[in-house]
Amino acid sequence: MPSKLVDPINGCFAPVTQAQSQILTALWRFPMSSRIPKSFIDDVVNRVDIVELIDERVPLKKAGRDYIACCPFHEEKTPSFSVSPIKQFYYCFGCGAHGSVVGFLMDYGHLEFVEAIEELARRAGMEVPREVSEFGAKTDLKALYTVLNSTADFFSRQLREHEAATRASNYLKSRGMIGQTAKRFHLGYAPPGWNNLTTQLSRGPYSQKTLIQAGLLIDKDQGRSYDRFRDRITFPIRNRRGQVIGFGARSLGDEKPKYLNSPETSVFHKGKELYGLFEAQAANRTLKKLFVVEGYMDVVSLFQEGVTNAVATLGTAATQEHMLRLFRTTPNIIFCFDGDKAGRRAAWRALETLLPVLKDGWVASFMFLPDGEDPDSIAMTKGGQHFLQIAKDSVNLSTFLFDTLEAQVDLNSLEGRARLVDLARPLLTTLTAQAFKNLALQKLVQISGMESTELARIMGGEERVFRPKMAVHDRETRKSRKPSLVRTAMSLVLYQPSLGTLVSDTKQLKDLDMPGVELLVGLLDLLKSNPTMSTGAIIESFRSHKYGKHIAKLATESPPVLEEGLEREVTDAIQKLEAMVWDRRLEVLMAKAKTDKLDDAEEEEFKRLLQRPSDGIDT
Ligand code: UTP
Ligand code: MN
Repeated sequence: MPSKLVDPINGCFAPVTQAQSQILTALWRFPMSSRIPKSFIDDVVNRVDIVELIDERVPLKKAGRDYIACCPFHEEKTPSFSVSPIKQFYYCFGCGAHGSVVGFLMDYGHLEFVEAIEELARRAGMEVPREVSEFGAKTDLKALYTVLNSTADFFSRQLREHEAATRASNYLKSRGMIGQTAKRFHLGYAPPGWNNLTTQLSRGPYSQKTLIQAGLLIDKDQGRSYDRFRDRITFPIRNRRGQVIGFGARSLGDEKPKYLNSPETSVFHKGKELYGLFEAQAANRTLKKLFVVEGYMDVVSLFQEGVTNAVATLGTAATQEHMLRLFRTTPNIIFCFDGDKAGRRAAWRALETLLPVLKDGWVASFMFLPDGEDPDSIAMTKGGQHFLQIAKDSVNLSTFLFDTLEAQVDLNSLEGRARLVDLARPLLTTLTAQAFKNLALQKLVQISGMESTELARIMGGEERVFRPKMAVHDRETRKSRKPSLVRTAMSLVLYQPSLGTLVSDTKQLKDLDMPGVELLVGLLDLLKSNPTMSTGAIIESFRSHKYGKHIAKLATESPPVLEEGLEREVTDAIQKLEAMVWDRRLEVLMAKAKTDKLDDAEEEEFKRLLQRPSDGIDT
């Protein structure tokens, strides 16, 4: 069910799905840009021209002040994709895609945020500086990578050389693994003992502190620490550049836990990383599709048996960040699950996670294995071809969605069909992929027999099919109401950022307890220190902000007034807001004067406030 957050711009309630709000919170807590200074991002975004950048990839035609093309994000025959050199921003009137140079590189070039910034920096001939990690303390990331890579080498050597390693290599052999595969995945053996790493790696740059920050040592107390991984087979987890960022480590027998994983560190984020992605990309020049499986051994065994394009999440259900990373790598993803009840539940959870971030053009499908099997067991006993054979029976997202829902109701009864609509509603309303959403609605029309306009109304984000009269009335008046002053000011400044510099002081505004004011003040303050920022650069600056999406959306709107009137409109809005601050202060002082005595300073302020020229205030 969508939970509700206050839309900071309109001050009214906008439905935000739980999943979306989770992403927002995550971004807020762990801003992705935290390791690249914000000022650098502002700078580099300002230096690269969006028209040039897009034109190299999608040839643009001039049309008035803007440039247009057929939208690269959805199928179309007449252009509705427009790029504004002034705003440094693109917007598609067809599918609603919008963003800055960074957003374009991420969506069109399938890049991660940091990669997009790096690409822009290369273009602008700048070097990306790195700074403090999100853990507060200054972490030397280079040292972490170095120590993690050296540790992987050390473990790998131990698998061949350590006196206790025979058990480990026998274990791998018993599971059918050959040396070449172990090498490919750089598997290793963490020997028994509590201080192997400290004695082996404490020379040179490998301080105990770095080993702890890398998650390799467990910090006990008073400067004492011990090895996290002991007597286990180690699976190095590599990022897309091939650097080791963490480990999974399997016990050789029945010791619990079966797998031990690196903790979250400055370089390792479980909710984002995919085991085997580096190896899959290294083995395939282009990845036409990717399988998502559950475990380390699944990835490794499939690879050995010729299925070199499988990745695994790290002991967690797939997150939305995983989804984005997967689909940015290739638009064709097959999620693989056990055929049992737990597997079906897990698949459903993946579907729920995917829907809100799904984009048109992404192809997701689901495959289910026979009971009691996992990809590793199938690959090792029946071979990779057999796995691929099962994959042929995978079902696509919409089929899985409707089959699962239909199985829960009786379609022969009216009640059952109504229930189906009710079950589909919360899922389909989270969809932002327009084409997919329309097709899904058509399908729902077929199954439910409900009239399409009626269904569209129900799916249009209405909270309930039948609402109390009051609430409907309330919603209508809200729609017809003029946009708030804060919203007007913000959309004007986003349309033409130089307008923001007309506001000399935001101190007064800060006192105003109104939705969106904080955001407006943030925007104005940002422009004060960077008066030449483009709209695109502003959007980027707010990317990791919890309301960054709202700002980007607002930037797609045209201003409510003619070009000539813009300056006046902004100063008017700000003046009106300031007047509101004064009025409220005046009320406070008057109330106090009635019951109490004002001190000298208050008396003075009171007089000043009374003297200010009054102007009509309507909000
Ligand atoms: P499974 O229990 O299905 O193990 O866990 P598996 O992959 O089949 O492993 P083998 O074949 O017994 O060696 C699937 C995944 O869940 C995570 C690991 O990422 C594992 O690959 N997991 C599992 C843990 O993190 N810790 C555990 O104790 C168990
Ligand atoms: Mn297994």
